[in-house]
Amino acid sequence: MKNRTILITGGAGFIGSHVVREFVNKYPEYQIINLDALTYAGNLENLKDIENRENYTFIKADITDAAHILEIFKQYQPDGVIHLAAESHVDRSITNPTAFVMTNVIGTVNLLNAAKEIWKDNFEGKRFHHVSTDEVYGTLGETRLFTEETAYDPHSPYSASKASSDHFVRAYHDTYGLPVVITNCSNNYGPNHFPEKLIPLCIHNILNNKPLPIYGDGKFTRDWLFVIDHAKAIDLVFHNGKNGDSYNVGGFNEWQNIDLVKELCKQVDEKLGRPEGTAAQLISFVKDRPGHDLRYAIDATKINKELGYKPSVTFEEGLSKTIDWFLANQEWLDSVTSGDYQKYYETQYSK
Ligand code: NAD
Ligand code: DAU
Repeated sequence: MKNRTILITGGAGFIGSHVVREFVNKYPEYQIINLDALTYAGNLENLKDIENRENYTFIKADITDAAHILEIFKQYQPDGVIHLAAESHVDRSITNPTAFVMTNVIGTVNLLNAAKEIWKDNFEGKRFHHVSTDEVYGTLGETRLFTEETAYDPHSPYSASKASSDHFVRAYHDTYGLPVVITNCSNNYGPNHFPEKLIPLCIHNILNNKPLPIYGDGKFTRDWLFVIDHAKAIDLVFHNGKNGDSYNVGGFNEWQNIDLVKELCKQVDEKLGRPEGTAAQLISFVKDRPGHDLRYAIDATKINKELGYKPSVTFEEGLSKTIDWFLANQEWLDSVTSGDYQKYYETQYSK
């Protein structure tokens, strides 16, 4: 096996921490560098189990700081980059779009420049893997799926910033020959999910007997994938994807929000040994998200046919593992929901 140095950005976040763990465990011969600014969404507690591994290093750095990023690239000489650092929450992008431009667009360009600079146009054996979202494709009606050929049509400031970063990544491939791959994934769920997002927010609120806020009529549809299956897809595309190509990642697993929350309520009641219907009484329909995309659904045929990718768990198994993790890790949930989270929650849900 080849020794490599892989720099993973955003490795202290939800998905990043699972990607870091997957790589540290699976590739002991690689050096894994986790570069993260530790914003409200980054948490080194997510990586306690691997923090002392010999092939793991953490660096606190902000990708908007071009000079610091270049210095780190020069010092560590990564031959691979897996870029997950981002502002990731759509609702926050509606209140503060500029932060999304800074990290998601400028930060990505800083990383591309640093990679291009240290690789000095000798791109043999190098790879820049940009982790993106299905939200760049905009919204679907009741039918059809997003393929890699679907035209970009972002609607929220978050998805506009991710679409822009995807375009820059492709531009560096087309203009300078930088060896890039992009993955566009559907909604993730699983352990360590920050409780601003629908599933962990509802689990946290059920445990605290608080209303479960459903935007609009609850008929909005998302395609859910267990986070460890996203990490496995990233591993596959990073190693075997074709330079310059994009790969959609998803679970062929669509749920309307209201049905998903009802299923979640049912499973939590079962696990807590309470009568069915207890948690569902907390469901509360609230004001809709502005510009709310109706439906996302991924056609994951390309990654399946070309790279043999298949999710490893069913949604029922994944959701059950997720609830079990949150029930066993209530201290984690309490620590990330104190302080600033309280202010965020009050502002967001008193509108
Ligand atoms: P997250 O918000 O949980 O974590 C983001 C991480 O990036 C945090 O650790 C944070 O500290 C770090 N970060 C933020 N700004 C930074 C900066 N300026 N410099 C360095 N680090 C910074 O996000 P996530 O849900 O884990 O998403 C990770 C990536 O995957 C994002 O690029 C997101 O767009 C993409 N994605 C997410 C989903 C999903 O369902 N969550 C689905 C598809 C794609
Ligand atoms: O599709 C991939 C995207 O999935 C990622 O790129 C984003 O980073 C990630 O945050 C996620 O975006 P969503 O906006 O789909 O996720 P969220 O959990 O915020 O919302 C899921 C659905 O639930 C969406 O239709 C909005 C709705 N919702 C959300 C919240 C937070 C509610 O009804 N109530 C809520 O309180």
